[in-house]
Amino acid sequence: MAKPTINVCLLGSKFMGRTHSNAYLKVAKFFDLPVNPVMHTVAGRNRAELDEFKERWGWHHASTDWKQAISDPAIGLVDVGTPNNVHAEHSIAALEAGKHVACEKPLAASLSDARQMRDAARKAKGKTFVWYVYRRCPAVALAHLFAKEGKLGRIYHVRAAYLQDWAGPDVPLIWRFQKGVSGSGSHGDLGAHIIDMARFITGDEITEVIGSVAETFIKERRIVESGSKGGIAGGASGGGAMGKSDVDDAVLFLARFSKGAIASFESTRLATGNQNRNEIEINGDKGAIRFNFEDMNYLEFYDATLPRRQQGWTKIMATHGGDHPYAANWWPDAHIIGYEHGFINELADMLAVIGGKAPVVPLPDFEDAYKTQQVLEAATISAEQRRPVRLEEIK
Ligand SMILES: NC(=O)c1ccc[n+]([C@@H]2O[C@H](COP(=O)([O-])OP(=O)(O)OC[C@H]3O[C@@H](n4cnc5c(N)ncnc54)[C@H](O)[C@@H]3O)[C@@H](O)[C@H]2O)c1
Repeated sequence: MAKPTINVCLLGSKFMGRTHSNAYLKVAKFFDLPVNPVMHTVAGRNRAELDEFKERWGWHHASTDWKQAISDPAIGLVDVGTPNNVHAEHSIAALEAGKHVACEKPLAASLSDARQMRDAARKAKGKTFVWYVYRRCPAVALAHLFAKEGKLGRIYHVRAAYLQDWAGPDVPLIWRFQKGVSGSGSHGDLGAHIIDMARFITGDEITEVIGSVAETFIKERRIVESGSKGGIAGGASGGGAMGKSDVDDAVLFLARFSKGAIASFESTRLATGNQNRNEIEINGDKGAIRFNFEDMNYLEFYDATLPRRQQGWTKIMATHGGDHPYAANWWPDAHIIGYEHGFINELADMLAVIGGKAPVVPLPDFEDAYKTQQVLEAATISAEQRRPVRLEEIK
């Protein structure tokens, strides 16, 4: 009997449009899914670009009318890969049309947009998902399982940093530097990922942001003349005129978790020498973990229950099919995976959930991603008002 299928409508066709298209192409080849995706329609604004994208990636249709495209009765899943300020409009319209929605992170450019999305999801019949994709690195999923199994014991410290260095003064004023579009700079872009990872691995929630500092080092950038082709800045180039960058280039904050752990978070796009260093270390009374995306196949684990003379960091290559999350769907031991596989793993879990099965590890939905958005907001208020902010203030 033929497998059930679900038609997908993708919004956005640049960086995330490519990673998601690649995931739709590959997911059913590597995972045995209850529902297989069909690449039905890609929707966007530029007809020529969309037609080229459709041909390259194998979408059946391209549409410049996103509203009409998402409300097509044939569509079952709407994938929102557009900039942050339109996540709410796109996702809520899709939920109201009765579709499942997979939205890119951060959930929204503002807390009020995020709240409307969460509330729409509560009323909707469709399921919601957010592409917090680093949860789907096998090493990060393994860290989550270790914490859940008690291998870390009582957690004392969470130390997370997401460091990039691509955003020097020559990078023009792309949407990532425009608050009206992005909501924030490195904070919502990178900080959102490490907040989500810390919540996911510890299984605990942040209750207070104690202090936060936000800095915009490069206050003016050249206005974009020719647009991004995808990627982060994507080869966008600027003209002579300058415009204001009104987002943070870097944010640092301290926080407390409900079970007593204390935490530090740092996100920056100007950490010269660090191109995509998404790292987290968690120290508990029984053990500790360390992860750095630049070496993403490894989880480092320190077992403090061993005799002291045997204690030391173990570098676990999380590629063993029998033991490591998602690894059985890929290649033999130590035949390593990369960036794109997180998206494919996440898509496999979304399709499992749509088909009534459990994900390998928990998936963030709009309810869950709203909690990350509350932490982002608390850190922003803390930086602006130079005071501690309890999460219960952020409804
Ligand atoms: N999960 C991750 O690790 C990850 C990585 C990068 C980006 N993102 C997120 O993905 C989203 C998209 O980022 P990107 O890097 O792909 O950006 P991008 O600039 O490469 O692509 C954005 C796409 O959205 C389209 N678009 C822009 N404004 C639109 C509008 N008003 N209506 C319809 N379409 C519109 C553009 O034409 C383009 O196709 C953002 O929310 C970003 O934070 C997530």
